[in-house]
Formats: sequence, C-alpha cells, structure tokens
Amino acid sequence: MTRYALIAAALLFTAPAALADPAPANSAKDGKALFTAKGCAACHGEAGARPIPGSPVIAGQNSVYLLRQMNEIASGLRASAPVKAMQPVIEKTSPDDRIALADWLAAQRSAESLAGDRAKADKGAELFDEKGCIGCHGADGARPLADYPVLAGQRKDYLMIQIKAIRDEIRSTRRARMMAANVRKLSDAEVEQLAEFLSQNKRK
Ligand code: HEC
Ligand code: HEC
Repeated sequence: MTRYALIAAALLFTAPAALADPAPANSAKDGKALFTAKGCAACHGEAGARPIPGSPVIAGQNSVYLLRQMNEIASGLRASAPVKAMQPVIEKTSPDDRIALADWLAAQRSAESLAGDRAKADKGAELFDEKGCIGCHGADGARPLADYPVLAGQRKDYLMIQIKAIRDEIRSTRRARMMAANVRKLSDAEVEQLAEFLSQNKRK
C-alpha cells in the first residue's frame, strides 16, 4: 500500500478507532501514529511538510509554539475562519496527544523552499528588516527567538492570511498582539512581498 492509501484508509476509521481503543501504536506518546490516525495529513500533508492550499507547513516548526497553537485552536482562542475546519479534529485530541504531536512534528524535515517571484521577494527582504520582523523572527525568518514561530519555508498563501489576520486583529491572542505595531501599517502589497520573501527561504 502506498503512504497515501494508508492515510486514506486511516481517515475512514479516524475518530471512533482512535478514541475507543488506543492500541499501543496509537498511544498518547506516538506522535507519528496520532498524526495519521487523527487525519492531520489530509490538510497538512505527509509528516506536516506538504500542506494543501491555506494550511500551514508544520514540519520543523518549534514544538512549544506548535503545542500552544493546538491548545489555542482547540479552546477557540485562535478562531479565524480557516481554522474552523480543523477545530473538530483537534478537539478530539487529549493534552497528552498534543504534546506527542508537537514533539514529533518539530523533528520532521520540512519541504524545500519554494520558487517564486524574485523581485517581490527582494522587496520583502528589505521590509523584513525595516519593519523590525528580524528582531523576533531572526535572519530570513529562519532563526526566531526561543519558542517563536519559524516563518522560512512556509506557504505564501498561509503567511499572507496570518499577517493580515494579525494586522486586522482577527488573530488577536496575547502573543500575536506582540507584533501588532510592526504590521499595523502594512499594505496588502507589502504583505505579499513579505510572504514571497519568507516562503522562498529555507527552513533550517
Ligand atoms: C481540515 C483541514 C485540517 C486538518 C484535518 C487539520 N488541520 Fe491543522 N490547520 C488547518 C488550517 C487551515 C490551519 C491554519 C488556520 C488559520 O489560518 O488560522 C491549521 C493550523 C494548524 C496549526 C498552527 C500552525 C501555525 O503555524 O500556527 C497546527 C499546529 C496544526 N494545524 C496542527 C494540526 C494537527 C496536529 C492536526 C491533526 C490532529 C491538524 N492540524 C488537522 C487545517 C487542518
Ligand atoms: C516583538 C516580536 C515580533 C515582531 C517584531 C514580529 N513578530 Fe511575528 N510573531 C511574533 C510572535 C510571538 C508570534 C506568534 C504568535 C502566537 O503565538 O500566536 C508571531 C507570529 C507571526 C506569524 C504567524 C506564524 C504562523 O505560523 O502562524 C507571522 C506570519 C509573522 N509573525 C510575521 C511577522 C512579520 C512579517 C513581522 C514584521 C512585519 C513580524 N512578524 C514581527 C513575534 C513578533
């Protein structure tokens, strides 16, 4: 069976099988088995590295950040429109499951950086400096401060949705508000340039 066939098969039996009978392979400590059993791959791609449009790359992301996001999505604290599709799935995971998922995902290799519009990316690189993003997210968005999200190698569409959501106070958690002043005055064209730059950078 191919991996995709396995994922498809797992999806058919997702919730009841995973909830009713946590067999050793699906134990709270096995992030890989949980990722398959809960159907995360349907949107985030194999090992979280190749998501469908609008969903983020979560492979190679910081584990503390990942865990916090899962908890905030499950509790409804992070509640922008696109996240609603994932809420019923994450609600069916226990706090222990989420720890195992975060640890496993952080250790996965992310996809290669994506090709794109070089001229826009160059403008984005300047903005990333000028607007002070580099201070928290690190050079190229690849080396953030401890427990802050890696932005390098993220999908361009997802980055644009998030920067706008934080700018427009739709994603307005306490931590997201830390960067409110940096994004407040960005135009949509500048958001695109930043996203173009970040999506083309390599995740370390
Ligand atoms: C139906 C599609 C779908 C499924 C299934 C799904 N997700 Fe998501 N996930 C999304 C979308 C879309 C977002 C981004 C939401 C937004 O724009 O705010 C997201 C966001 C996330 C984030 C936050 C990433 C970041 O950079 O902030 C994490 C972590 C995550 N998902 C983990 C998981 C895990 C683990 C599972 C399985 C238990 C899962 N997701 C299942 C669609 C899905
Ligand atoms: C003061 C520190 C700080 C600065 C400056 C900052 N950010 Fe952030 N950024 C954060 C934190 C913290 C988060 C995570 C918020 C959370 O936990 O929900 C974040 C989240 C993000 C996300 C969402 C990541 C994801 O996976 O969902 C994007 C995109 C982003 N920042 C882009 C930028 C850009 C572009 C700039 C510059 C215009 C910038 N940030 C400036 C601290 C900062």
